[in-house]
Amino acid sequence: MPTNLKIFSSPEELARELAFEFLAELQKKYNSAEMMTLALSGGSTPALLFRELSLYSQRLDWGCVKLFWSDERMVPPDHPQSNYGLAKRLLLDELPIPAQNIFRMEGEIPAEEAAEKYMALIRQEVPAGEDGLPQFDWIFLGLGEDGHTASLFPGSDSLQIRDKICAAVIHPGSGQPRLTFTLPLINQARKIAFLVTGVSKSRVVADILKQRPSVSNYPAAAVQPLKGELYWYLDKAAASDLK
Ligand code: 6PG
Repeated sequence: MPTNLKIFSSPEELARELAFEFLAELQKKYNSAEMMTLALSGGSTPALLFRELSLYSQRLDWGCVKLFWSDERMVPPDHPQSNYGLAKRLLLDELPIPAQNIFRMEGEIPAEEAAEKYMALIRQEVPAGEDGLPQFDWIFLGLGEDGHTASLFPGSDSLQIRDKICAAVIHPGSGQPRLTFTLPLINQARKIAFLVTGVSKSRVVADILKQRPSVSNYPAAAVQPLKGELYWYLDKAAASDLK
């Protein structure tokens, strides 16, 4: 599993470089008249990337992107904690992405129902790979200090799921219902990019990238693309324990 590690001096430099890389891939898709299937991550880290991408809203035909989320809090889309809501405020409201290409997880309905609907939507909109599972071109992921990613939390039964591509789960700390991609779907992707900034994540980053024994507890360590590529985009602070 090739791990491509990119370390940047600041979160701003990370966001700028990642935006350029993403836009270059998007241009390739546009030039070859193909659609890009992309899943955004949640939490606060992607905010800088969203702002950076929004600066290039007129530079590209965003009609060649189908946009999904790798997890969501089960709240209405206009709720301050909504991952979709954050992306809408910082990015989608600035981009000419056709509404029919934006596929949000429905946080305002019961989680199990939302999971069933989203799995059907993904299977309808995302072409399958050789294994018959939907294969995203690009999935962004964040990393929690406990090693969680998306809404796959340490010790959760959802980590053992092999026959479903999404799952309704509960945040172990807050009890908040969540909807998340499962590992089979994530590991099917052509490209997976972790975006991690801040010194608070440095230990868990080092544990995972150095494959220390503790990683068996970290869901993020189970992100190992079957055929795709795994990238880690870190700022210097998050990489500070890698020396
Ligand atoms: C969520 C995310 C979650 C997040 C990490 C990092 O819905 O919260 O999917 O996995 O990416 O917790 O969050 P921060 O970027 O806020 O540190």
